[in-house]
Amino acid sequence: MNISITKNTSPKAKPDQTNLGFGKYFTDHMFVLDYTAGKGWHDARIVPYGPLSLDPSAMILHYGQGIFEGMKAYRTDDGRVLLFRPQKNLERANISNARLDIPAIDEEFALEALKELIKVDADWIPTEPGTSLYIRPFIIATDPYLGVKPSSTYKFIIILSPVGAYYPEGLNPVKIYVEDDYVRAVRGGIGYAKTPGNYAASIRAQTKAHELNYTQVLWLDGVERKYIEEVGTMNVFFVIDGEVVTPELNGSILAGVTRDSTINLLKSWGVKITERKLSIEELYEAHKAGKLDEAFGTGTAAVISPMGELNWKGNIMPINNGETGPLSARIYDTITGIQSGRIEDTMGWTVEVK
Ligand code: COI
Repeated sequence: MNISITKNTSPKAKPDQTNLGFGKYFTDHMFVLDYTAGKGWHDARIVPYGPLSLDPSAMILHYGQGIFEGMKAYRTDDGRVLLFRPQKNLERANISNARLDIPAIDEEFALEALKELIKVDADWIPTEPGTSLYIRPFIIATDPYLGVKPSSTYKFIIILSPVGAYYPEGLNPVKIYVEDDYVRAVRGGIGYAKTPGNYAASIRAQTKAHELNYTQVLWLDGVERKYIEEVGTMNVFFVIDGEVVTPELNGSILAGVTRDSTINLLKSWGVKITERKLSIEELYEAHKAGKLDEAFGTGTAAVISPMGELNWKGNIMPINNGETGPLSARIYDTITGIQSGRIEDTMGWTVEVK
């Protein structure tokens, strides 16, 4: 499929790279692809970034039939542009599409489209340490219709945002509130899909955590309210007595690309890593026995976010004296090193945009 390009004739001033925050600035262009039942995906185009024209009855606005992804592009010291495991994200986009009854995208074509868009906006890729170009592909149901059914029209859009750290804390540990009232997802639901509803379901608990002076929540499973699932919008890892433990994928947990990268790095380093059920009681016992060495979240946005304290029903568990642990730091340095081309990519994870 041919991709037409319409250049933005009024490009914006670039933001200050030392104060980007996360998801506040957008580049000059976006990629758009339409879907119509019977015709398939069509009209691939790169156009100036700007508001969409949507019918107020568009189904995404009412029933949330949509999916999204998140990935990053980095500018290397020698001027190349690298993506990190983009095929994994596009593969997951189709897993989410299948759950939301949205037609699949052609993953190879989506990667080509992504590369073309990045080439057009390449001068937006920030180079300050800790910065990158965040890539947000998403699909929305656009039928003007208030009945509940799969839409027969969709838009697949990719937008780009130069970003710094997701949390203002950066790699400094965040304080986490263990949420035992609200749940994020249940098995059989949409927890494993990257879809707006999961994030909508999380916002109230996040606000509650903020009110209690915590940065994020630790989610427990929706059935027994006992087993640890995720932290905030991230997958979660604990170092217990020298062994790394992460919740096994069970249908309500998102299969994170950074989660998978972390597991593979740990294995390559000979560190014992186990994917299994982990209850909050077991974690509390490990803490009391002095065996909870480190805890961290993994995600594309923050990469690694160490936890410095957990609050479970008023039981405070300080972790590693509220400091970033050695394994958390090593994983962060290695993944961001590979992403930015400063560390040799022996895993074959990076894809160059040329
Ligand atoms: C993540 O990368 O951690 C995410 O889930 C993206 C976030 C901005 C929703």
